[in-house]
Formats: sequence, structure tokens, C-alpha cells
Amino acid sequence: MKKTKKFLKIAIDSPAAAGAGTLAKSISKHYNLYYLDTGKIYRMIAYLKIKFPKKFNQNFLKKKISLIKVKNLSNKNLLSDEVGTEASIISKNKNIRKLVHSFQVNCAYNPPKNFNGSCLDGRDITYKIVPDADFKFFITANLKTRAHRRYKELKKINKKILYKNVLKSIKKRDKSDFNRKISPLKKTKDSVLLNTTKLNKRACFLKIKKIIDRKLKT
Ligand code: C5P
Repeated sequence: MKKTKKFLKIAIDSPAAAGAGTLAKSISKHYNLYYLDTGKIYRMIAYLKIKFPKKFNQNFLKKKISLIKVKNLSNKNLLSDEVGTEASIISKNKNIRKLVHSFQVNCAYNPPKNFNGSCLDGRDITYKIVPDADFKFFITANLKTRAHRRYKELKKINKKILYKNVLKSIKKRDKSDFNRKISPLKKTKDSVLLNTTKLNKRACFLKIKKIIDRKLKT
């Protein structure tokens, strides 16, 4: 009898700049999974707030969110530190989280048919968006390493950026993401912890791949 392929769901949570996005992309490519960087949704909302402060209300957002396409989330304007900081502010809002919830759930559970499953990364993926994921990971790295990585990324789009400011904003974002009341960032008991401080991209990928392959074989 032909064995039906298992639909694979991978959920990843992590603090800012821990390497989760890069890792999630390579894992998604390897297993042909539909990838969604959920932080980009909050960044897009933050960008709209900065760009259209007067129009920014629930109805305006509802309309914009209904038009979200995953491909639009790769917009370069979403990468700045200013947008990241604003994203961590608007993401504390219960109504905003409600508005984007079904979009994320839909990407996780109903990805386009040509994919073998989905892989989402964010802050509340392992326990709120995909609580029954086949694999759950909590990716982290020490604060200075994360700040250095983000500084290098941001330097490409803004030559004037200072390391000390990037460090400050990552610290602030950590504080807010870990301590907020709604959907705080946390490592669930059933998530595998990966500290990427001393690992390069390839080593991270291989560690995660090993865990996935071991379980898939059984
Ligand atoms: O992942 P990224 O750094 O792009 O996320 C930007 C901000 O969006 C985070 O600092 C966090 O406050 C918020 N976020 C969230 N829940 C998610 C993903 C991101 O609250 N699932």
C-alpha cells in the first residue's frame, strides 16, 4: 500500500536576532515546508502605524490585514530598528493579536498544496498558534551575540546605525516580549532548546535536522 506522506508542522519561538529566521528558512527549504515569519506581520502593522498615524484604527487594520500576502512581507521597509521597536509595542495589543491570529493559523494548517507542511517562527507559536506542532523549538543566543548579529544586518541598510543603540533596543524588546501579559515569549516544556551563541548557520541547521530526522524515521 502506498504510504501517505505525513503533514509536518514545525513551531519555533525565539527572542529577537537569535537566528531563528535563518534556521527556519533553511529547515523549510530542506523539508519543503511553507514558511511564515510571524514577526513580519507585526512589523507590517507597526510600519502602517508609523506611515499612516491618523488613519490607524481597527477598521483600517482589518482591511489591510485581509489583504496580507506572505510575499508582501519581504518588503525592505519592515527591517528597520524603528519598525521592530514599534512592532513590540503594537504586539501587546489584544485586538491586534486577535486580528492576525487566523491568518497565522491558516498558514500553519492550510498551506498551499505543493508543500509538505508548515514552519512558523515568532513569540507564541509553540503554545498559541500551533500548539500541536510535530516539532517545537526555542532558539536563543546571548544578548551581545544577538545584538552583534542584528547590528551587522542593519548596517547594510543604514550605515549610520550604532551598535550601542541596537543593543539597547534588543534589551528593551526582550523585556517587553518576555514580560507582557498577552502571549509572552516563553519556552514551553515540550520545546527543544537550542542556544546558537557559538554555532554557525550550518551547525544550527544540522542540529535541528538531526532531531527531526530521528523522529521521522521512527
Ligand atoms: O521577529 P521580529 O523581531 O521581527 O518581531 C518583531 C516584534 O513582533 C517582536 O519583538 C514581538 O514583540 C512581536 N511578535 C510577537 N509575536 C510573534 C512574532 C513577533 O509579538 N509571533
